[in-house]
Amino acid sequence: MTSTAPSDITATPAWRALLAHHQSVGALHLRQIFADDPERGRELTVDVADLHLDYSKQRVTRETLALLVDLAEAAGVPAHRDAMLRGEHINTSEDRAVLHTALRLPREAELVVDGQDVVADVHGVLDRMGEFTDRLRSGEWTGATGERITTVVNIGIGGSDLGPVMVHQALRHHADGPDVRFVSNVDPADLVATTAGLDPARTLFVVASKTFGTLETLTNATAAKRWLLEGLGEDGSSADESAVAKHFVAVSTNAEKVSAFGIDTANMFGFWDWVGGRYSVDSAIGLSVMAAIGRDRFAELLDGFHQVDVHFATAPLAENAPVLLGLLGVWSSSFFGAGSKAVLPYSNDLGRFAAYLQQLTMESNGKSVRADGTPVTTPTGEVYWGEPGTNGQHAFYQLLHQGTRLVPADFLGFAEPLEDVATMDGTGSMHDLLMSNFFAQTKVLAFGKTAEEIAAEGTAADVVAHKVMPGNRPTTSILAPRLTPSVVGQLVALYEHVVFVQGTIWGIDSFDQWGVELGKTQAQALTPVLTAEAAPAPQDDSSTDALVRWYRAGRGR
Ligand code: F6P
Repeated sequence: MTSTAPSDITATPAWRALLAHHQSVGALHLRQIFADDPERGRELTVDVADLHLDYSKQRVTRETLALLVDLAEAAGVPAHRDAMLRGEHINTSEDRAVLHTALRLPREAELVVDGQDVVADVHGVLDRMGEFTDRLRSGEWTGATGERITTVVNIGIGGSDLGPVMVHQALRHHADGPDVRFVSNVDPADLVATTAGLDPARTLFVVASKTFGTLETLTNATAAKRWLLEGLGEDGSSADESAVAKHFVAVSTNAEKVSAFGIDTANMFGFWDWVGGRYSVDSAIGLSVMAAIGRDRFAELLDGFHQVDVHFATAPLAENAPVLLGLLGVWSSSFFGAGSKAVLPYSNDLGRFAAYLQQLTMESNGKSVRADGTPVTTPTGEVYWGEPGTNGQHAFYQLLHQGTRLVPADFLGFAEPLEDVATMDGTGSMHDLLMSNFFAQTKVLAFGKTAEEIAAEGTAADVVAHKVMPGNRPTTSILAPRLTPSVVGQLVALYEHVVFVQGTIWGIDSFDQWGVELGKTQAQALTPVLTAEAAPAPQDDSSTDALVRWYRAGRGR
């Protein structure tokens, strides 16, 4: 946090002004807000790169927006943003720079941080990734028995999985390389199901782990190594360890541990401690994606990120898409008390986008203390969740429409489909049908349907109340021409910066994740308790103790 930023944003005049303003506009219905400001549907929009954002259906007036922009100023968002982009150590609890934006700087850009020519380093790795994936895709890189590699299995978890999984699915239309699969869970079902039917001679594993110390990933990678060597061996014996070099590559910041695991560091693609795991899909962690789509489309992906970075760095706050979205999130969560945020892509190919955003946003902003260690004084970190439309409409939209909780939602959609199919009568397009649902849902969520309107349709009096659609549920619509590599990069960068803006306003360090550590050490301590032959000593608490005993009995111990 820069020194000019207040520690407690809720003690600032800007926050108090918003509190007072909320008293007067908080109860306004979107029907009224639109009646008072009929042009807002055309004007409360912002375009960045290929993205068109309509935030007119948020519960804000123009005055709210001005006050929110004041809040961003009061929180020092521009100064903190610039400090991040310069490479200052804004991740204070880990004393690290936060430079995921450097991963997508063009080759000719200049950025030296802590004496390191960051741009040269980034492009050095990108070039190596490009050379490797070219060889893989062309068949020049072969397995130990000379066979072409036809399947790449990425083994990683968290940021070393979710980003590649999401982007790979989103860009399946652009994939023309080897089949790419993912293993993340330490549940053995994941590895077993993913490798089922694969030919070890034609399979390459990418072991992706920033730290190369993550239990799940190392456990899966060890099992995969065994699977490979046993599969390549003859007459029931395992193949020679030397086969590993042709079937395993690593992506990590930790060369020592990669080497200790048995992967030649010549087959390692590096990145740096200034890339957080959840911000790493555009680093070497994206190697499996590059294998699928090729280096040129990967470059388009990076360019999409960069276009949004430039916008974030330069657009005035009131026209800055990530700033506006971040502020609207603060408005909904800190002032209206909305605890969660739905992300609803009207695109099946973005099926893992909400899961990806869960880590990005919740691991970043799920904090109870500010950067200076003092407790926060307002709720932080929205609970992100979602599923693609129209599936969600037949599952949880009931609560969005008529439930007692306010759930703001981001709707994502595209003008052009990547493939289209005629509707049942052969005259229409399924994509148009999909998008008519998008527009209908955002309309109904905003404006609802009153008891009078329902009664006027002849509805039985005792059913009217059940059919009332309250409306006044805020949404942002995010549209793009089509789902290209660049657009995927733009969407990810947009949300990365939304997280940054919100974290800055709440005064927290969005780039550490200490809250995940205790569970890891406790699991390590409990593993021998579950597996020991002798009855274990009682656990500290009676619940864990009873659960462990129940489990051990189930395992015959
Ligand atoms: O446990 C959380 C976490 O540290 C994430 O932040 C990270 O993305 C994930 O684990 C995987 O870490 P690594 O890439 O070091 O294996």
